[in-house]
Amino acid sequence: MTSPCWEARADLVVVGTGVAGLTAALRARELGLNVLVVTKDAADGGNTRWAQGGVAVVLGDIEADSVARHVDDTLVAGVGLCDPVATSRIIGAGPAAVRRLQALGAEFDRDVPDGDRLARTREGGHTAFRVVHAGGDATGAEVERALVTASRDGRVPMLEHHTAVDTLRTPAGEVTGLLVLDANGVPGILVAPAVLLATGGLGQLYQATSNPSVATADGIALALRSGAPVADLEFVQFHPTVLYTGSGARGRCPLVTEAVRGEGAVLVDARGDRVMAGVHPQEDLAPRDVVSAAITRRMAALGDDHVYLDTTHLTAAEFRRRFPTVLAACLTVGVDPSVAPIPVAPAAHFSCGGVVTTVDGRTAVAGLYAAGEVARTGLHGANRLASNSLLEGLVVGTRAAESVAADLALGVPSERRLAACQPVPTVPVADRDTLQRVMSRYAAIGRDAEGLAVVGSVLDVSAVDRPLSTRELVEDAALTLTARALIAAAAAREESRGCHVRDDFPATTTEWARSLTVRLTPSGQPMIAEPAMARGAA
Ligand code: SIN
Repeated sequence: MTSPCWEARADLVVVGTGVAGLTAALRARELGLNVLVVTKDAADGGNTRWAQGGVAVVLGDIEADSVARHVDDTLVAGVGLCDPVATSRIIGAGPAAVRRLQALGAEFDRDVPDGDRLARTREGGHTAFRVVHAGGDATGAEVERALVTASRDGRVPMLEHHTAVDTLRTPAGEVTGLLVLDANGVPGILVAPAVLLATGGLGQLYQATSNPSVATADGIALALRSGAPVADLEFVQFHPTVLYTGSGARGRCPLVTEAVRGEGAVLVDARGDRVMAGVHPQEDLAPRDVVSAAITRRMAALGDDHVYLDTTHLTAAEFRRRFPTVLAACLTVGVDPSVAPIPVAPAAHFSCGGVVTTVDGRTAVAGLYAAGEVARTGLHGANRLASNSLLEGLVVGTRAAESVAADLALGVPSERRLAACQPVPTVPVADRDTLQRVMSRYAAIGRDAEGLAVVGSVLDVSAVDRPLSTRELVEDAALTLTARALIAAAAAREESRGCHVRDDFPATTTEWARSLTVRLTPSGQPMIAEPAMARGAA
């Protein structure tokens, strides 16, 4: 086993370069902190750039809309599991966060070219047109471009192609830094009194996902192994419309943004019958969990593996102007959306749960912070409202940097400054292909006790203890641990709610109107724990 042989120091190490990570790094730098960003890929390799729809925000220039209404829509979509206080705080801070992003150079689409007012679209679960967007359907790419450009002035040092393996901790469990592998796989340590996880999501738990290959649940595993609880992990949001590219799709599938339905498109099955008619009062713009479940039921009833999104009411020029990214993806599979409906199917998209944090990014472990998709602030509940995630990343990323600065101003205990070299940990690692297959078959939309038990047994049989000496092993270990934690929560929640659909418990019950928290036992097994508060939670 190799011992770490290089070392660097910072006040704050940020893991990940998505919207939350870079927002936090830039704010930390403004506050005078010595910040170091680590990413296992290139700076622009994260999930943020794939976001299409936009940022849900109430800027006060649309008469019929209000922050309170946006909060209400979020709570309704979250099916009783959102934290109303956290939700109000995050959504209330949205306008300032978007203005800060504009000040960094992000350009959003306008009602008319060079006009003052930003254009708005609507997505599932929103009762108003409040989603601002950029480049038509390339909002994430513009957000990422603005943040990466602002970070590239030399004052935010970045270690690209470096993989975070484990946190360094004092005997009392406080985080003192990070064990990482450099681009050549050589271990080293980053000594820091604060580590912020902004590692994004877990879509690679499944065979088909809208997420890029980096979305391997790394932050969830790091946090669990550091002693931090995670919650709401059973709520994996499946996006209703990723482009169907043929049976047995694997890896990242192109998204067909919900904004297409916001602009009037409708879902139809192979017979041309509407999928959402009569299912929900908001029909094709119902919350995402409702639409994905309805598509899944319709596909099962007809024995099909996809449905269609009929966008033919838009002219070719309208579609090209508004949805250039979707158009390019459709053309690669030979579909022209202005003349033929787009084949689509649900795929894993967003983790509503994650590491338990306050709205200021504090976890239950001193020195460990989290923001963005990896964190569970209470904003998403059992089903995230569309386009609330870029907003959350901007708001919580900023606030997490501020809480690190405030915590460090109180003084760092001297033992937290000590971080010793240590060997890479040895943990169970399952075969990724096997894991994705059983997760897709038994832990996607429509689960039951028997299937979840099969996932558990397959993981137990296929997992082998391996030292985390390569990026691939770190990722596979993260997927293994996260899958175990997820199925523990999914098996325990004996009801259906939001994104968690149990075929053997189809009803939503008041008894289960609470979040489930998962921690690791001393031997590293995920177990359901009592709800845990993050530090500083009310
Ligand atoms: C979409 O554009 O449909 C996805 C946006 C989101 O997941 O918030």
